[in-house]
Amino acid sequence: MSVQPLPSTETLPFVSGDNPILRVEHLSKEFGKRRRRGTSTTVKAVNDVSFDLARGETLGLVGESGCGKTTLSRMLLRLIEPTSGSVEVEGEQVTGLKGNDLRRFRQRAQVVFQDPYASLDPRQRISATVAEPLVNSGKSKAEKKEIVDGLLARMGLLPAHASRFPHQFSGGQRQRIGIARALSVTPDLLLLDEPVSALDVSIQAQVLTLLSDLREEFDLSYILISHDLSVVRHVSDRVMVMYLGRIVEMADKNSLFTAPRHPYTVSLLSAAPVPDPTIERTRQRIVLRGDPPNPANPPSGCAFHRRCFHATTMAAQLPGDQVTTLDDGSRVPTACTTTVPLLTPDSATHWSACHFPMTPEDNAAVGVTAAL
Ligand SMILES: Nc1ncnc2c1ncn2[C@@H]1O[C@H](COP(=O)(O)OP(=O)(O)OP(=O)(O)O)[C@@H](O)[C@H]1O
Ligand code: SF4
Ligand SMILES: [Mg+2]
Repeated sequence: MSVQPLPSTETLPFVSGDNPILRVEHLSKEFGKRRRRGTSTTVKAVNDVSFDLARGETLGLVGESGCGKTTLSRMLLRLIEPTSGSVEVEGEQVTGLKGNDLRRFRQRAQVVFQDPYASLDPRQRISATVAEPLVNSGKSKAEKKEIVDGLLARMGLLPAHASRFPHQFSGGQRQRIGIARALSVTPDLLLLDEPVSALDVSIQAQVLTLLSDLREEFDLSYILISHDLSVVRHVSDRVMVMYLGRIVEMADKNSLFTAPRHPYTVSLLSAAPVPDPTIERTRQRIVLRGDPPNPANPPSGCAFHRRCFHATTMAAQLPGDQVTTLDDGSRVPTACTTTVPLLTPDSATHWSACHFPMTPEDNAAVGVTAAL
């Protein structure tokens, strides 16, 4: 078997045709960190990310803590400036917007945060919280009240709740209030950053179902960020998997969950709980070697190569001159240590960034099957 790194491709992973709601090209964000004695380091929190979002679509974004999910979403909303790359919403460049144009854009793209406790002002009544994004809308007091009352009712809250304060609600209710606030300006795009991770499992399902219903009703498109694959599976049409600032796999939901190609995705699937107790008790789990890498000093080539179980399997099948021994004694294909794998299409809707994408047989050999 001879291995050449895959050729670079100019094809970006766009799937939604000529009229996407969102198109992101080569987006990157670097943070500089000062250290003692005047030295500084740079963290590439988001590294050359491209994707698009169709109208009415929910795109899930998963990856472990620190992989860049929130940084990416903050750039999409223009809450922080990208270091390079572009974001277009309905064909309009968001990166160049200023003044009124930026304000107008912010009405169309809203965010629901992870922590419903921290994101609501404890001193503000719910009516004022939900109406907050309408402050420069030119609407009268009566119009705002009508919008707030309508949204609270839609969220399953009572008219009397409008005059209460956040501490008088449960976590699930507070998250519904956060969603009502985001919807008050009738946005097209909603960014949901870990919207249910602070909630009990039973409440999580209710909020996710509500979000699914609202998408249809309000004609919304979602980006749903979560470290939890089962949450993403519940509501997404497509899923992107992020590792150390890069998208390593992107696919329609069924394809990603039944035939994952990137070893990191496979490891996430292997770690996710399975509803069937018999399968859950007996199945193998992949344990990744080592710790997540330091983002300020990422490994060369494929950033996953020091933890990748599949790389060691592949190395065993390659001639010695195509294999490198790492300092922990493990052997991996040299291509994995020298060349960054680019996101490459396996089909029209399935892309992965691995020199040796996993096959269904590879998945079965490590205990990840379509049954999961
Ligand atoms: N303002 C900042 N200054 C410096 N570094 C930052 C800043 N914001 C994020 N980072 C770094 O960028 C990387 C990505 O962080 P980010 O918050 O986007 O990750 P995340 O995937 O949202 O993580 P989590 O799941 O924990 O929310 C991390 O290494 C983080 O330390
Ligand atoms: S390129 Fe190599 S190290 Fe990276 S995920 Fe694929 S097999 Fe693993
Ligand atoms: Mg985050």
